[in-house]
Amino acid sequence: MDAQEEDRTERIIDRLGYPVVIGEDVIGALRTWFATTEKRRVVVLADAHPPVAQRAHAVCAALANLDAPVLVPLGEKRKHLSTVADVYDFLARKGVARDTLVLGIGGGVASDLFGFAAATYMRGVPYAHIATSLVAMVDAAIGGKTGVNLPYGKNLVGTFTDPQAVFCDLFALETLPYRHIREGLAEVVKAAIIEGGEFFEMLEELAPFSFVDWPWLRIVEAAVDLKSMIVCDDRLEHGDRALLNLGHTFGHALERASDYRITHGAGVALGLRAAGLLALRTGRFSKAEHFRVLALLALLGMPLRTTVPAQAIADAMFHDKKKRAGVLRFVLPRAIGDVDFGVRVSNKQLLATLSQLGREPEQPSSR
Ligand SMILES: NC(=O)c1ccc[n+]([C@@H]2O[C@H](COP(=O)([O-])OP(=O)(O)OC[C@H]3O[C@@H](n4cnc5c(N)ncnc54)[C@H](O)[C@@H]3O)[C@@H](O)[C@H]2O)c1
Ligand SMILES: [Zn+2]
Repeated sequence: MDAQEEDRTERIIDRLGYPVVIGEDVIGALRTWFATTEKRRVVVLADAHPPVAQRAHAVCAALANLDAPVLVPLGEKRKHLSTVADVYDFLARKGVARDTLVLGIGGGVASDLFGFAAATYMRGVPYAHIATSLVAMVDAAIGGKTGVNLPYGKNLVGTFTDPQAVFCDLFALETLPYRHIREGLAEVVKAAIIEGGEFFEMLEELAPFSFVDWPWLRIVEAAVDLKSMIVCDDRLEHGDRALLNLGHTFGHALERASDYRITHGAGVALGLRAAGLLALRTGRFSKAEHFRVLALLALLGMPLRTTVPAQAIADAMFHDKKKRAGVLRFVLPRAIGDVDFGVRVSNKQLLATLSQLGREPEQPSSR
């Protein structure tokens, strides 16, 4: 990488038909975007969690065309239709119409819920998002999926609606607690396994260092680049987009079987180990590459072992499968940088893999 590349402070990825702006200076980026797009009234909604609310106030105060943000208490437990109804009430009271831009600020819950409210209010008003969590930057805010949970399950109501723009606010990462950085990192590692090459090597090089010193612009850029490339080819999730589920069939089952004590990020990390094990067992992956993935996950402090019994994980997987009336298909690596989707395996291979998850991670020297 040359010095000019190193000095960049902002990157715009435009592949999806709307800009994804990644940088520390969100205020400057918004100013430029407002100046170059049609003038419209803007209403701002933000996650009421204090560090996000504070950031939202600072952004709004710095831009003449923005009023103070309206703060909405969020969190996964509030990601449901009655919170959306509160947002509709507010939009109606404010006289929001199709010529008004709704600007949301917050993590993945905010991008899913505010995005869903904007996509459905008056059959859709324009929406833009400022992503403040790593999960939102590398995953949730990219790709146009919006939605909320029902008591029957997560993300059961939603739309595919592209935003007008997404701003990944790297400055906001300073207040994001480690446990939430780790949630996002699991998705970053997943993306790096799919992409391979320099992306994966960069993470291997950075893993021993403190996150404070990480070049977040390059990391978020690499993850957004990969996700936008895949989504661009398969916006409605009929094919390739399934690649992004690497580690997730296992992950979702682990979340459910542990009654959500295992977080999504931890489930994905365990799922990445499981996908590697199953790929080894079905003769499609090399031990050397599997160890590289495990070593990276371990350096990043990700869990690799679970006490959830194999049968309970399998039951959760089959329960999900039955609900979707389909067969279990897996996303499995052939190599770092070469991942297959739609792979069917035998129940015996699956159960043997799940039992291995209860044991210490395999070591390069073990036979
Ligand atoms: N639509 C999609 O394609 C997609 C993809 C992945 C995840 N998701 C959704 O995203 C959600 C998870 O996202 P998340 O992990 O960002 O959850 P989140 O929005 O709840 O954020 C996690 C926590 O961090 C706080 N936070 C956010 N930014 C902060 C900051 N800069 N400083 C301090 N605290 C901050 C939030 O208030 C919250 O407490 C899930 O609901 C998931 O379903 C959607
Ligand atoms: Zn995920």
